[in-house]
Amino acid sequence: MTASLDLTALPALRRYLESLPTAERDAAHAQLSALGPADLSSLGVSEPQPVEYDYRVDRIDGTIPAELRGTLYRNGPGRWEDHTGRPLRHLFDGDGMVSAFTVDSGGVHYRNRYVRTRHFRGKGAVSHMGTAAPGGWRSNIGRLPPNLANTNVVEHAGHLYALWEGGPPYEIDPATLETVALRRFGGELRWLGTYSAHPSFCPVSGAMFNFGVELAPRPHLRMYRTDRNGRLGHFRSARLPYPAMVHDFALTERYLVFLVSPLIPDPMSVALGLAPIGDTLRYRPDRGSVVLLVPRDGGKIRRIECDAVLQFHLSNAFDDGGDVVVDAITYADGRLLERIARFHTSSLADAPGRFTRFRVTASGRVSAEALSDSPCEFPRHHPGREGRPHRYAFVNTRRTLGAFYDTVTKLDLAERTEVSYPAPEAGNSFCEPVFTPRPGGTAEDDGWLLTVEYQAAQHVSRLVILDARDPSAGPVATAQLTHHIPQGFHGNFAPSS
Ligand SMILES: [Fe+2]
Repeated sequence: MTASLDLTALPALRRYLESLPTAERDAAHAQLSALGPADLSSLGVSEPQPVEYDYRVDRIDGTIPAELRGTLYRNGPGRWEDHTGRPLRHLFDGDGMVSAFTVDSGGVHYRNRYVRTRHFRGKGAVSHMGTAAPGGWRSNIGRLPPNLANTNVVEHAGHLYALWEGGPPYEIDPATLETVALRRFGGELRWLGTYSAHPSFCPVSGAMFNFGVELAPRPHLRMYRTDRNGRLGHFRSARLPYPAMVHDFALTERYLVFLVSPLIPDPMSVALGLAPIGDTLRYRPDRGSVVLLVPRDGGKIRRIECDAVLQFHLSNAFDDGGDVVVDAITYADGRLLERIARFHTSSLADAPGRFTRFRVTASGRVSAEALSDSPCEFPRHHPGREGRPHRYAFVNTRRTLGAFYDTVTKLDLAERTEVSYPAPEAGNSFCEPVFTPRPGGTAEDDGWLLTVEYQAAQHVSRLVILDARDPSAGPVATAQLTHHIPQGFHGNFAPSS
């Protein structure tokens, strides 16, 4: 390692580099050496957070809105290493750590807990998405990654769940964040119990819809509906054209909408222990995409083949006469897969996400239109507009940093304009902006955006509350933590009742 690269403040990154094979380590080191100071300091957000905190936040700047009461739950990897300290390479590979920011009349209380999965407790599988178990192919034969419960945290019917798409949810105590149990809902989640981290909620019925990908005996989706009382039932199944990774779906008033991307693993290499499943995942545009429109009332499933689309996240969707409109964050090619497989040292500069609107006509034609030029991810919208025509989307955008999102942006999808709040200091980054409606408000943007900002120079994080009507005005309030929270994936706000 050359003297020019000072990784003193990034000990986990240093351990990661040391764990790589020589050629890969040299390449990773070269990538890091090319970074400017802001990009290098931004990498601190991926250092682990081993401490579980529980404290009232001392420092509140600004004024927390009196009507904002409840808890912002967030989930994401808290450490990219197993219980022995072995570094893990894939972005999706870290143990799930749930954070809770409870906003009440006294201010903000912060708490974080790791989900007590088998993996966290040092049991079970050791072959991960991007890191093989030690011992060569014999140690990895037929091994799938462990359930890390690290992708999302959702509250429904009085229960809080930490979600990971390759297995069943873990129920979490909403007050203490202690792990209650793995849930299979009376056996409705069978076999691997796959259950996506992106359920959709019907604002009228209160039902939660979700799905899991099953690859055997043939690739298919298993869809579930959980009623407002928390009863989960298998609802529909639909065949997939190939063994695809499907991360998200959307809801309209009539349909469950799937936009299947040809994100295809190599099951044979995994079965033989030759490569971890995440390293075999390829974008195969030659296989095309398919839109699946699954009627909520039990009618015939519509399958519409179209040109290949690479996406992980859908935004909202809605019925428009006989058409279905669905928004997604799309990528031009498969470079993103390589980036997330070795995320510690990767830049997303050449793999921008685009906010793209798809229209599926009644006659089965699919058209696409980019609605913004800003590289973006993590779309959110008003939960009351779920499945209905909407005007606004709230996203993370990237202006200056290569690997993280340094800006919160409100997209006006009708006017095709956008307003942004960029991080106030170089190297800082934001996680997903969660839109939280103001109680009693009627306008679609009447509410707040709740996000967490990583402050690189101080290596700490803060809760940031923005007025969703004009995020460019800057925070209405911030709650300063005394430590950092790793970047994380998704979260939701549960209003206090
Ligand atoms: Fe996601």
